[in-house]
Amino acid sequence: MSDIPSHRSEPVALLRGSQHLVRQHRVRRARADDCAAIAGIYNQAIASRRCTMDTELVTAGGALDQLHGLRLREALLVATPEKGTGAPVRGWGVVKRYSNRPGYHLTCETSVYVHEAERGQGYGAALQRELLRHATAFGYRHLVAKILAVNTESIAFHQRHGFEEVGVQRRIGLIDGVWHDVAILQYLIDADRRA
Ligand SMILES: CC(C)(COP(=O)(O)OP(=O)(O)OC[C@H]1O[C@@H](n2cnc3c(N)ncnc32)[C@H](O)[C@@H]1OP(=O)(O)O)[C@@H](O)C(=O)NCCC(=O)NCCS
Repeated sequence: MSDIPSHRSEPVALLRGSQHLVRQHRVRRARADDCAAIAGIYNQAIASRRCTMDTELVTAGGALDQLHGLRLREALLVATPEKGTGAPVRGWGVVKRYSNRPGYHLTCETSVYVHEAERGQGYGAALQRELLRHATAFGYRHLVAKILAVNTESIAFHQRHGFEEVGVQRRIGLIDGVWHDVAILQYLIDADRRA
């Protein structure tokens, strides 16, 4: 399938104290030179012990492997504050196949991570919109997001973007001696509800 052109997200009006800022985030396909930033953002999520079941910090090389390992109908996206080479990566998201089993060919899994210092500024929303647009263009009809139950703000974020919680896997993960539940969220794309 051909590449899907990235596009500028809608302007995001932010009220910060007395300042009224308008930002236009860019979301585009990740490149090799984004991988250090992608790894850095993911390492914050790993260190928090409440966003992922990964426990070992990753390297830029690991992120590059993920980028090079993408298959058809998969995409790694990054969000930046503006266009242009050198614009800092503030967050990233991925849409990937849910399973290799043919019966799941219309199902994908999505994840989104934003730099801790840059949250609440619309990067997550911009990434989520683009993940949904890519998933739709790739022909998926069902998106899955798996989120640690302690991560209530991320569950709420996904629900605000149309995901529905369909179940909780109790005590499915053990991190540093702490048992974790995982919430399963789904987003159904149907003919009347195209992204
Ligand atoms: C969930 C996550 C991706 C959201 O990204 P984000 O860039 O903060 O998202 P947005 O700014 O688009 O939206 C955050 C919402 O919280 C509000 N908010 C305000 N201040 C905030 C802050 N300091 N931090 C986070 N959210 C804040 C925003 O106004 C916004 O509300 P709205 O949806 O009603 O508009 C981000 O918190 C994150 O990276 N979490 C850790 C990784 C993770 O848990 N990923 C999910 C696993 S799939």
